[in-house]
Amino acid sequence: MELAKNTFHKVLVRTAVVITTVSVHGIANAAPFSFNSPVSFDPPLYGFSCNPAHDTWRNIQANGEFVVNVVGKELGERLHVLETDYPYEECELMHAGLTEARASAVNPPRIKEALAWLECKREHTVELGDHIWITGRVVAAAVKDEYWKAPGVLDLEKANPLCHLSGEFFVTDMKEARYKRAQ
Ligand SMILES: Cc1cc2nc3c(=O)[nH]c(=O)nc-3n(C[C@H](O)[C@H](O)[C@H](O)COP(=O)(O)O)c2cc1C
Repeated sequence: MELAKNTFHKVLVRTAVVITTVSVHGIANAAPFSFNSPVSFDPPLYGFSCNPAHDTWRNIQANGEFVVNVVGKELGERLHVLETDYPYEECELMHAGLTEARASAVNPPRIKEALAWLECKREHTVELGDHIWITGRVVAAAVKDEYWKAPGVLDLEKANPLCHLSGEFFVTDMKEARYKRAQ
């Protein structure tokens, strides 16, 4: 079956993240994103695609900082609260019952309930189609201790990161697979 061209993303499973930013007055903003990806190891770069009308973009234009919060499936239903278009400077985290925690290297808060987070400073932005691709340099990154099963190896089944297909459709409960290279 052929896909309509503007629904191609429905066959690409993507990590759902919540990006936190702050306004010029220091008020936190949080919004879910799934058009996102690592971009470079060295320097460490992360990118995501943002509709230019979003408050997230407005805040990044103002101060260039954001935190990418990786969330587990228990936060799934709250993403719809976070995606609600509240007035500018009305914090979605409060509506979603989530907690702000201080990030280590940037001003926007991280989300205490997230399982991992990347603290980023804006590096490049480019208008691509109807979105802005925002690339940030990762200046700090952390995973909660309970989600490591060995040093540097994520316990995928315990962390249960939430992935997105489209709209209300998500992917959870992934299984790790290891394909060993032939010697
Ligand atoms: C799971 C999920 C993924 C989303 N992914 C994106 C995305 O990649 N890019 C985007 O511009 N909006 C995306 N959205 C929509 C924004 O989160 C939503 O429009 C939000 O209100 C923007 O908030 P802001 O104005 O506070 O930045 C997504 C929404 C959900 C629920």
